[in-house]
Amino acid sequence: MTLADVGGMHEVKDRLEAAFLAPMRNPELRKLYGKSLRGGLLLYGPPGCGKTYIARAVAGELGARFMSVSISDVLDMWIGNSERNLRQLFETARRNAPCVLFLDELDALGAKRSQIRNTGMRNTVNQLLTELDGVDGSANDGVFVLAATNHPWDVDTALRRPGRLDRMLLVLPPDRTAREGIIHHHLKDRPVAGIDLAKLAKRTEGFSGADLRHLCESAAERALLDSVRTGRARMIEMSDLLGALDQLRPSTGPWFASARNVAQFANDGGAYDELLTYLKRKKML
Ligand SMILES: Nc1ncnc2c1ncn2[C@@H]1O[C@H](COP(=O)(O)OP(=O)(O)OP(=O)(O)O)[C@@H](O)[C@H]1O
Ligand SMILES: [Mg+2]
Repeated sequence: MTLADVGGMHEVKDRLEAAFLAPMRNPELRKLYGKSLRGGLLLYGPPGCGKTYIARAVAGELGARFMSVSISDVLDMWIGNSERNLRQLFETARRNAPCVLFLDELDALGAKRSQIRNTGMRNTVNQLLTELDGVDGSANDGVFVLAATNHPWDVDTALRRPGRLDRMLLVLPPDRTAREGIIHHHLKDRPVAGIDLAKLAKRTEGFSGADLRHLCESAAERALLDSVRTGRARMIEMSDLLGALDQLRPSTGPWFASARNVAQFANDGGAYDELLTYLKRKKML
């Protein structure tokens, strides 16, 4: 899988390209401009809109130079083990530099930390800070950290300081063209007839990529049940999709409701400017 398989998301792709894909492919230019290959980028946005998906595409672009781990896999109930896991992870990344280290579900650190019983979490966050800074100044040269979360406000602010995950990038629900592409992607291996992709895309404003996949699966289920009932297999038709659509609501609504408060009242240092612009454009503010 490569970036070409990801529908829409042009801004996200451009930023990923500028942040590390281009510098990684062009070592001579990197030298010329004195750009060090290190740093971090935090992807955030509503669930199901392609954060993990686009990271997989970046992995496809980079091949072996991409390491992916979900933070919950690093966490361990035994005191000290989470820290050791993190240390080993970064050591492997440094050995494989230049590479991208993808930390998915970063909020697992924050959520756990707020549970009073789990006092070890502070140490885990501290260990991550240490690893992000590199043991000495240059240890992390060639290690680019990409992280994802749908609760950036739960991510320890210390993790977002300069030199760490200092850039944030909003991953939004797919626009109309992207929705058309995503629906097409999920129908292309199924028996369909008379599907009006443009109409479906138009009627699925606010739907996440995951919602659209669910829509296609529900429509397939309808056609299947019908075939079972009549004893005759039939194609998936527009009526199946529209019927399924009637039963579905975009799952991104609740996320935007809580994100709106943060963007309005806790936009520390302009971190959520991108989100504010989007909310204004969509008249959600
Ligand atoms: N731009 C896209 N193009 C094609 N498919 C997409 C796109 N965005 C999302 N999808 C589909 O939606 C699914 C869910 O996306 P993904 O798991 O990347 O969301 P996420 O942002 O990581 O969500 P979460 O915050 O819940 O982890 C993907 O597996 C993919 O099938
Ligand atoms: Mg994900």
